[in-house]
Amino acid sequence: MKNIMTDTNEKRLAAIKSLEYIEDDFVLGVGTGSTVNFLISELHLVRHKIRSIASSSEASTRLLSDEGFLVEDLSSTGSPDLYIDGADEITKNFHMIKGGGGALTREKIIAHASKKFVCIVDNSKIVDVLGNFPLPIEVIPMAKSMVSREIAKLGGQSELRHDFQTDNGNLILDVHNLKIIDPPSLEKEINNIPGVVTNGIFALRPANVIIIGNAETTDVITNT
Ligand code: A5P
Repeated sequence: MKNIMTDTNEKRLAAIKSLEYIEDDFVLGVGTGSTVNFLISELHLVRHKIRSIASSSEASTRLLSDEGFLVEDLSSTGSPDLYIDGADEITKNFHMIKGGGGALTREKIIAHASKKFVCIVDNSKIVDVLGNFPLPIEVIPMAKSMVSREIAKLGGQSELRHDFQTDNGNLILDVHNLKIIDPPSLEKEINNIPGVVTNGIFALRPANVIIIGNAETTDVITNT
């Protein structure tokens, strides 16, 4: 097992590499999580290139504000030229599980709106098949038991994330033991359950680029 310092450096290297994708006059979408936090702390290096920023969570908004960036509503910024975010798992088909931090709905909205999605990860996040990481699902509170029962029919065991409320005032079910063989179909199927706000499979809008942080280098995989 890797130690946490190695992971941290890998995340930092991936985040720094992603700065190269920010071009002049860009509208930038900013994701959420410990990898993105490294991006936010280095973003001042390209401040002059950024026209406006949309954020995927209250946590990222706070950090961006602390760095002196004005965060605008997605409705005001229009489509971001680029969205940069982490992932909990990602395949070499550019499909992801996201939402470990609970920000999946706003992340999916900004990812969908953006022209390009660059995913920044440490190399432990690369998997052949999604599903080892429990799949987060944001649910309307009154629907939590009903959604859990529907998820059980798909073979998953739902666990309510304790003491957690999303930025949208909802709950998160973390679903264990789902075999995610066909990510786009399962993403649609789960989203069709009434009460589901969205689920953490990001396949219908996959990443365009994966930046993988290693101990001292980065690898870049581009979806052509
Ligand atoms: C936040 O809700 C998530 O989607 C994150 O993007 C994901 O959990 C990756 O987080 P870390 O960068 O902290 O590993």
